Amino acid sequence: MLLLASALFLALVQASVALHTSTSAKATSTVALNTAAKAAGKLYFGTATDNPELTDKAYATLLNNTMMFGQLTPGNTMKWYATEPEKNVFNFTGGDQIVALAKATGKIIRGHNLIWHNQLPDWVTNGSWTPETLAPVIETHVRTEASHYAGKMYSWDVINEPLYDNGTMRANVFYQTLDSSYISIALRAAHAADPKAKLYINDYNLESTGPKIDAMVHLVKNLLAAGVPIHGIGFQGHFILGEVYPSQLQTNMERITALSLEVAVTELDIRIKLPATDADLEQQKADYMSVVQTCVAVSKCVGVTVWDYTDRHSWIPSFFPGYGEACPWDVNLVRKPAYDGIAMAFKNCTM
Ligand code: G3I
Repeated sequence: MLLLASALFLALVQASVALHTSTSAKATSTVALNTAAKAAGKLYFGTATDNPELTDKAYATLLNNTMMFGQLTPGNTMKWYATEPEKNVFNFTGGDQIVALAKATGKIIRGHNLIWHNQLPDWVTNGSWTPETLAPVIETHVRTEASHYAGKMYSWDVINEPLYDNGTMRANVFYQTLDSSYISIALRAAHAADPKAKLYINDYNLESTGPKIDAMVHLVKNLLAAGVPIHGIGFQGHFILGEVYPSQLQTNMERITALSLEVAVTELDIRIKLPATDADLEQQKADYMSVVQTCVAVSKCVGVTVWDYTDRHSWIPSFFPGYGEACPWDVNLVRKPAYDGIAMAFKNCTM
């Protein structure tokens, strides 16, 4: 009986903690984030989105607010598995929907992505390739997709995640077949197809000092020396709560901008070990603020994109079991303290 009572008590406490943490701490700022980003001299504050989410009316209503979001990144539907599922069979339906939405609501688009080791169709991953057979496949894929969207994209993540954390080149099918030449093949093809789009290499864990950013700087220098078109580096920004080191992030961004490239925070989220407490949400606010402040401080950091704006549609819980609440809006689309952190960073004031 005593055991049952204490189990019940524990369950009640846990339930009240869950309710408390998901609803108690809210943002107070009323400034809209894209408006604030522009006032701070940035090109945009944006978000990733994905086609299935667009049927969520409350989600879509806020997404469409251009004062809040001035830029979209399609989370999945411009990737190779979606756009060329079979060789030479192209499908741009999903990407087109997001481009049309962006156009209708006055947003710019970061195309994501043309070449990545993940979400590849089997015919690419499992093909038995030689340099002579794979190079034209890369060129056709990049040319066809970049031409389809020519003139509509602010930028393209032409190459996604080419490096391991230890700074060596990721041994994907492209590297294994063509060595690092696959990068210049793709960049040249993208530039020929859409000369106005800014061409990016995008990667994670470039935010702290160490071998990965060293390798990225080295890669960019080699590409520039060879005359390859490359205009920006994307710092994805998938952080763990309390592990944001703004001075390292600024140093790393400035190593890239010193090479005359621009940078952007392309996939920002800050995951929390669940259950999140109010103290965690305050820390998350500080972490969001320091990332955005860093982008504000680096003049050639063009903007910040969150990897979806709400916990309702975040990738985190399914990829990192036990973690969540990584976005600035909660599952009910209520603004969290993180929202204030972003607003304060753009406004450069304390509110
Ligand atoms: O398309 C299938 C669908 O047919 C099926 O019913 C469903 C069942 O789970 O799965 C669907 O595929 C999922 C796909 O997203 C589309 O929704 C995959 O399981 C899921 O693994 C995939 O996750 C995506 C992930 O990339 C893949 O690595 C996330 O949504 C997407 O947000 C995420 O984005 C990446 C960036 O592109 C690069 N940087 C890291 C970032 C987070 O992983």
